[in-house]
Amino acid sequence: MIKKFTFGTPICTEAVVEKFETSDNKDFPFKSREEDGKFVLEFDMTDSDIVYGLGEAPRGINKRGWTYESFCSDDPFHTETKSALYAAHNFLMLSGSDNFGIFIDYPARIRWDIGYTAKNKTVITIDGTEFDFYYIKGDKPIEIVKEFRKSIGKSYIPPFWAFGYQQSRWSYPDAKTVDSVIDGYDKAGIPLDCVYLDIDYMDSYKDFTVDDKKFPDFAEYVSKKREQGIHLIPIIDAGVKKEDGYSVYEEGRDNGYFCKNEDGTDFEGGVWPGIVGFPDFLRKDVREWFGSKYKVLTDAGIDGFWNDMNEPAIFYSVKGLEKALDKAVSLKGENLDLSKFFNLKDTFLGLSNSPDDYSSIYHTVDGKQVCHDRVHNIYGANMTKAAGEYFAKEFGEEKILMFSRASYIGAHRSSGIWFGDNHSWWSHILLNLKMLPSANMCGFLYCGADLGGFNENATRDLVLRFLALGVFTPLMRNHAALGTRDQECYNFENSEDFRDIIEVRYRLIPYLYSTFRKASEENDMIFRPLSFDYPDDKIARECETQLMLGDECMICPVYEQNVGGRYVYLPEDMTFVKLSGTKVVTEKMTKGTHYIDVALNEVPLFIKNGRKIPLCKTAMRTSQLDTENLEYIIG
Ligand code: GLC
Repeated sequence: MIKKFTFGTPICTEAVVEKFETSDNKDFPFKSREEDGKFVLEFDMTDSDIVYGLGEAPRGINKRGWTYESFCSDDPFHTETKSALYAAHNFLMLSGSDNFGIFIDYPARIRWDIGYTAKNKTVITIDGTEFDFYYIKGDKPIEIVKEFRKSIGKSYIPPFWAFGYQQSRWSYPDAKTVDSVIDGYDKAGIPLDCVYLDIDYMDSYKDFTVDDKKFPDFAEYVSKKREQGIHLIPIIDAGVKKEDGYSVYEEGRDNGYFCKNEDGTDFEGGVWPGIVGFPDFLRKDVREWFGSKYKVLTDAGIDGFWNDMNEPAIFYSVKGLEKALDKAVSLKGENLDLSKFFNLKDTFLGLSNSPDDYSSIYHTVDGKQVCHDRVHNIYGANMTKAAGEYFAKEFGEEKILMFSRASYIGAHRSSGIWFGDNHSWWSHILLNLKMLPSANMCGFLYCGADLGGFNENATRDLVLRFLALGVFTPLMRNHAALGTRDQECYNFENSEDFRDIIEVRYRLIPYLYSTFRKASEENDMIFRPLSFDYPDDKIARECETQLMLGDECMICPVYEQNVGGRYVYLPEDMTFVKLSGTKVVTEKMTKGTHYIDVALNEVPLFIKNGRKIPLCKTAMRTSQLDTENLEYIIG
């Protein structure tokens, strides 16, 4: 049962697709107040209640004991003391003494103090007083999730090949380098379906261009790669380079499609190409225009994209940089003491993603000028919608791979997400795991983290353990930052261990794909916390290092260095399965805690008693998989 409450006249985000009668605000089920233009609501929790939700966010599956923010943030340090990542997923659910979910459909900042200030109180502060509020009542967490998911519409389903293994790096700048990556995988006998083109494929970082010195005859190159069974996936950034003669910029400028300053001139910020205009994706005509630009690449045979920097990330605004440079010049020759030096340093550090800059940007919503602060969290989602609407119109469903960095609930209907610039840290294996069920609750099924970690140097064992989790994530992509150690599997010693892991992925694709489709069609989750399935089992309720997968499995990646396995908790008798290349080893295990040995080339998995999962033969590409002839592992 869902009850909708409307406060004021909210900006329409299109997150919810089901129609609801609006309830009387007198019946609002929470204690609430308005304070300085903000709306504050709160609820009590008992010690054993669990609070789930917030999708892509820092920390645990149980969100208690911290304070979070809904504010799409370009922040490459995903440490546990952060309060926001790239997404704003405003769904929260309490399970225990009471069972309910809430969705706050509001595109600006929200603070969620979940037992941080007062242990047994959740206090939510909405930075405004105009929003839609959905209260979802159910007996069990999964019922609440399904009811909510039904209201926001069916989750995006990518093409089948998007379940293959994908290799990325910032950057493979030219055809020769891309060829060498494919060659490296082929020679090592490691399956591969996609290679990514990061920003350097473009001409001077200009969206919808290809540098023809690096990729002479791009269309022919794309088609040759497709003959090899490889999909090339270019990146598209939110900002459009300011350059006379660059048609995308000129069209945007001449038609008034870019976001504005308060005085109506174009807001100008700096990103990869230098100064850019930011398309006002909140406008339907701008979305149609920007969406149609993808045609240049789809005409060349491209059938997958990743949308980036769409929080939006702004390295500096032209105005902000000018001020900072003036300050620096005025200090030239001075003897800078502690406070003057750090003030100058902070001025430059504060240039990126500055709150003042965001406040100075204006959009046009329903013909009216609206400050960016009021709609910040739907900017990226609308960029993705621009692409998604175009793809659906031109190609129909399930044809184009699309995922985004920034997102808001609603974007799950046209795209997946990746979890942004993580690190090659062991702790990020678990962070990846914990975000999966939370993202699923909010409709994002096609998701995954940069396997091996994006920032800093990865070790061989970290990449292997990360991949062993990635075997199960719908998006299985290895991606690494500029300047870091090579992270392609064939670049590490004994690459056969990597082959063993990735072959397991290909063997599991029929199972993973059908589990994915079913979850999308039935508004279900692929990954669930153990507490969903075993609500009366204290250890299961507290477990944050294992997940239930589909109706059959439990997954439990190894997440520490220099260990030969891990402790795992079985909430019931199950079959332990170790998969490695073509090898399958099974062992019945009883309810309780066990230490399991897991070598670096093995993928651990548990199957519930009486359930079975299919395996196909492995192949070098998804297009070569024989999904008809299956063998089964029986639990
Ligand atoms: C951003 C993206 C990252 C990409 C880089 C260069 O940091 O999150 O994935 O590699 O930009 O485009």
